[in-house]
Amino acid sequence: MKYPTVNTKFIVLLGNPLSHSVSPPMHNAVFEKLGMDCCYIPVEVNNENLGKVFQGLSRMNVLGCNVTIPHKVAIMDYLDELDPLAKTIGAVNTIKIENGSSTGYNTDGEGFLKSLTEGGLGSVTEKRFFIQGCGGAARAVAMTLAAHNAKRIYLANRTEKKAEQLADEINLNISSCSEVIDNDPASRKTAIRASDVLINTTSVGMHPHENASPIEKEYITADHMVADIVYNPLKTKLLQDAEAQGAKTVGGPGMLIYQGAAAFRIFTGVEPLVDVMSATVYRLIDKKQAGT
Ligand code: ATR
Repeated sequence: MKYPTVNTKFIVLLGNPLSHSVSPPMHNAVFEKLGMDCCYIPVEVNNENLGKVFQGLSRMNVLGCNVTIPHKVAIMDYLDELDPLAKTIGAVNTIKIENGSSTGYNTDGEGFLKSLTEGGLGSVTEKRFFIQGCGGAARAVAMTLAAHNAKRIYLANRTEKKAEQLADEINLNISSCSEVIDNDPASRKTAIRASDVLINTTSVGMHPHENASPIEKEYITADHMVADIVYNPLKTKLLQDAEAQGAKTVGGPGMLIYQGAAAFRIFTGVEPLVDVMSATVYRLIDKKQAGT
């Protein structure tokens, strides 16, 4: 790797903790391959210092930032402008800085949708989606699908109140396509069977709880596409169950790769090498899962 100079442009990842993030190597691999004098660095920052650090960065040779847990909502207080979708989602994961002025975007939902498209989704407009979980990731996914005119979005969550709140926001701000599903087996089965795509946005099934799945295997059929945002393990119990039922599956790394690709375009205006990003992410996940 070339050492940075005064001419180098930086992209800064803000979050805490960041030791496991694959974003720096994923972006730097593309900068290196394209011969761009850019460098992506992780900066762990606590809540108290977020504003001061960001205000400093926006006065430096920084093209933009990625923002991750726990700052995706708090960072919005420090931005000059917000992209309409990021505003509706209520969270920012990508910031473009130009002439000291900052604009916030959210590429998580677009990244997820791109991974579904790669998996053979076809048109969103015709499809019904069952989303398990209503946290930050679900907000980005559900609102992006609604913004792309999804036919129906069924929301199921352990805490039903959160599902009601998200459904209300979608129906009020985007389109009246969203419906809350009660947690009883009959309601879940009906909604799952009425859906084309089943999506897990919770951490259920993530290492070290690999034997858990958030969606009942017996409700999944060969007509479903099943997507999991969990990528550790790569093949979650949900995806194994879906495969066993003959369903199409979409794994977690796609969202990570395509949200990064969309952010790369925003930072640089250059088309990223998605193959290089993907190879880097899979290599690092494999390494992590092998415990090396
Ligand atoms: P993220 O930003 O990654 O989406 P989050 O905002 O903390 O994280 O949301 C986590 C989601 O996973 C929530 O919908 C949560 O359900 P609750 O709203 O009831 O907390 C869901 N979740 C986490 N662990 C779960 C579990 N063991 N069973 C069911 N749902 C779970």
